[in-house]
Amino acid sequence: MSETATASKPSFNRKNPLIAHIPRRRFLSEGAAEKETWHLEIDLQGSELTYTPGDSLAVLSTNWPQAVENVLLALGLSGDEEVTGPDKSNAPLKSVLTKQCVITLPDKKFLNKLVEKAGDAANELAVLLDPEKKKELSNYLWGREIIDFLLMFPDLKWEAQEFVGVLKKLNVRLYSIASSLAAVPNQVHLTVASVLYNSFDKDRKGVCSTFLNERCDENTDVPCFVTPGKGFRLPEPEDDTPIIMCGPGTGIAPFRAFLQERNATKAKGDAWLFFGEIHQDTCYFYEDEWKNYLEDGTLNKITTAFSRDQDHKIYVHHRMLEEGAEIWSWLERGAIFYVCGDAERMANDVDQALHQIAIEHGGKSEQEAAAYIEQMRQDKRYRRDVY
Ligand SMILES: Cc1cc2nc3c(=O)[nH]c(=O)nc-3n(C[C@H](O)[C@H](O)[C@H](O)COP(=O)(O)OP(=O)(O)OC[C@H]3O[C@@H](n4cnc5c(N)ncnc54)[C@H](O)[C@@H]3O)c2cc1C
Ligand SMILES: NC(=O)c1ccc[n+]([C@@H]2O[C@H](COP(=O)([O-])OP(=O)(O)OC[C@H]3O[C@@H](n4cnc5c(N)ncnc54)[C@H](OP(=O)(O)O)[C@@H]3O)[C@@H](O)[C@H]2O)c1
Repeated sequence: MSETATASKPSFNRKNPLIAHIPRRRFLSEGAAEKETWHLEIDLQGSELTYTPGDSLAVLSTNWPQAVENVLLALGLSGDEEVTGPDKSNAPLKSVLTKQCVITLPDKKFLNKLVEKAGDAANELAVLLDPEKKKELSNYLWGREIIDFLLMFPDLKWEAQEFVGVLKKLNVRLYSIASSLAAVPNQVHLTVASVLYNSFDKDRKGVCSTFLNERCDENTDVPCFVTPGKGFRLPEPEDDTPIIMCGPGTGIAPFRAFLQERNATKAKGDAWLFFGEIHQDTCYFYEDEWKNYLEDGTLNKITTAFSRDQDHKIYVHHRMLEEGAEIWSWLERGAIFYVCGDAERMANDVDQALHQIAIEHGGKSEQEAAAYIEQMRQDKRYRRDVY
């Protein structure tokens, strides 16, 4: 190496993840029976992993040991059988099911094999596998896991390799980073909601969210790497462009990172935060931090929507409509509008609210409002990180 060459920083990825640990955690939804959301702090000391607010952390988890045991029991296999896993390495079946395969949500390769093996007994399922029945299949599969199908056809004999061969590779899950290195050097914070639900009389757990929230202690290895947030970026600190951030639920995560960064860099522009959750007394995530930011001027305004504190739902987009005149004046000052969180319902409702505001307070027709929002998008003043 020449004298002027510098050692390149390690770049972490799926094949070469950082093995991190979570030394500190805090329950954010204490007292709320309906959800479990945690604040997690991962240590980066000595790792040289860096990130920018707006990035996400990709986490590689393992399956629940009990879920693996249940599958092995249903297959009638010991787990010691040597198999080749999706990552092409050879290992005992139990290890491959634990670390490499999706063993919860069934996909078509598994279902086709099941139908082939079960014959007439799986007729109902065979009908749904017709490519024309995509919607019906998705409805049928909602809430069903691989273990349910194995138990539905207990007499089928599976070879270990045959079973592994029809399973998908266990993929990373992304979590919006909830911290800024400018405020907390050597740390990355996450805001993670456990996916927990009951279907067909069984309690189910999302793989990665419950790995992070329930199975990790400070000694557990957490393989991870950073994925850049496509365009989900703050203006430069000296740029006085105002920003409006809308982050209900775990959608708050990147905005905590934004506000930490803006506080540390003394950013100039105005900032307005919309936050929504189910109950104010149990789920007002990071409330003290927002209070401090309001006091020191990092944040100009916070607007909240607690959906289950009254007999009718109040959501962030309802609050946006109430604040329509002021939102419109911020947009006319060139504000960037950011939204993060649920893609299925919330992001659409927020989008409609923006259109409505342009109509009511900007005096625009429906078409003009659509063009206005489209222009915001093209000018990168409407940025979405929804999932
Ligand atoms: C860019 C990005 C950023 C994200 N940021 C965050 C974040 O900051 N915090 C956060 O908590 N999450 C975040 N997510 C979501 C996260 O990546 C995972 O998708 C989430 O944690 C679930 O993963 P899991 O492995 O726990 O669940 P999985 O094992 O993947 O299970 C989820 C699946 O379970 C099924 N399911 C879920 N609920 C039900 C139900 N009620 N009935 C029937 N079936 C159901 C669905 O098929 C669903 O796809 C983000 C996602 C993206 C893409
Ligand atoms: N991929 C996954 O499996 C996965 C994992 C984690 C989270 N998520 C999803 O990501 C989203 C975030 O979950 P989360 O726990 O952070 O919070 P969330 O479920 O989005 O809830 C946050 C708040 O948003 C409210 N809300 C519901 N519908 C809304 C709408 N149309 N517009 C505005 N607000 C609305 C909720 O109210 P109510 O609940 O009272 O209606 C709640 O007060 C959810 O959709 C969740 O399902 C998905």
